[in-house]
Amino acid sequence: MSALSLSRWYRALSSLPTMMANDIAIDLGTANTLIYMKGRGIVLNEPSVVAVEARSRKCIAVGSEAKLMLGRTPADLEAIRPLKDGVIADFQVSEEMLRQFILKVLHHRRFIKPSIIIAVPSGITEVEKRAVKDSAEHAGCRDLHLIAEPVAAAIGVGLPVNAACGNMVVDIGGGTTEIAVIALSGIVTQQSIRVAGDEMDEGVIQYLRKNYNMAIGQQTSELIKMTIGSAYPLKEEKEMEISGRDLVAGIPRTIRVNSAEIREALSEPITAIVEGVRRTLERTPPELSADIVERGIVMTGGGALLKGLDMRLSKETSLTVTVADDPLSCVVLGAGKVLEEPEEYAKVLMDPPRG
Ligand SMILES: Nc1ncnc2c1ncn2[C@@H]1O[C@H](COP(=O)(O)OP(=O)(O)OP(=O)(O)O)[C@@H](O)[C@H]1O
Ligand SMILES: [Mg+2]
Repeated sequence: MSALSLSRWYRALSSLPTMMANDIAIDLGTANTLIYMKGRGIVLNEPSVVAVEARSRKCIAVGSEAKLMLGRTPADLEAIRPLKDGVIADFQVSEEMLRQFILKVLHHRRFIKPSIIIAVPSGITEVEKRAVKDSAEHAGCRDLHLIAEPVAAAIGVGLPVNAACGNMVVDIGGGTTEIAVIALSGIVTQQSIRVAGDEMDEGVIQYLRKNYNMAIGQQTSELIKMTIGSAYPLKEEKEMEISGRDLVAGIPRTIRVNSAEIREALSEPITAIVEGVRRTLERTPPELSADIVERGIVMTGGGALLKGLDMRLSKETSLTVTVADDPLSCVVLGAGKVLEEPEEYAKVLMDPPRG
């Protein structure tokens, strides 16, 4: 073998460990799961839904395919969202979902055990941490690290989390709203409330039931929220046609609702989120409050896309509020940045789960 091809072989061999490593960062969310692969960026973005056979609990479909089945399954199938309020509610199904997603991004090369960073709510308990750890291990991962969601979101947005200045992030997901003030690589003050997008959907369902005697499913209610939902009066109020089941006559019916009505339907969860932000601000040390007055609040997570929520929060706190560019990806992009630059961000990781 010539000297040239030998050196080429040597180079190929020495790059093998990194090629095989496939380290990944996961935002295991109540509504959506995203996976970032080191050196490649976001490689998976799917709803956190699993369809199982009712009797055997065998997994039939995961992700987008399973979400289509939510609320539409025949008796022998069940479409499940295995996470609730940001944490694992159905252990077995979460584990299966995680395994399927990981296998998908590793192209079913089962022999590769990636090391992994998972973003979890900042208020996670030890028991909940263990559930995440066990799920990841059974799904074939080694070397697990956890990162608090708002910290990952802040890094994903590009805030200087390692600096000696206060950064405030409000991440509104499906199950939890994470509010945190971050400085010097750590969380100084935080609130993790279990009110977010799902509670808004529930608000719309209850409103239509009470005011129109109409039953709608969660998917319809989410669509109404995204299309005409708001947290602050709109310049031009909107209207929408909604189909559901009349609770008195028991037959399908179509009605028109307007954005002012849906704002009323959303008022309880929105108020809870605003109160959470106020409480966090009250508990923030004065030096950091001064930084926040200067730098404002950044909103991330899908809930940040609710129309007028930035305006409402800004009015109620007298602070500047901005919505991140791609709010649904901030958490996984931040966790991915920690994978890419482990030395820079070593201090932001949570304690490894015990046991
Ligand atoms: N345009 C929109 N307007 C209002 N809400 C939206 C919009 N787009 C997405 N959402 C909501 O955002 C939520 C999903 O956001 P995200 O993916 O950040 O949550 P998650 O990370 O899965 O949940 P969590 O962090 O609570 O575990 C859903 O409740 C969805 O309805
Ligand atoms: Mg989230």
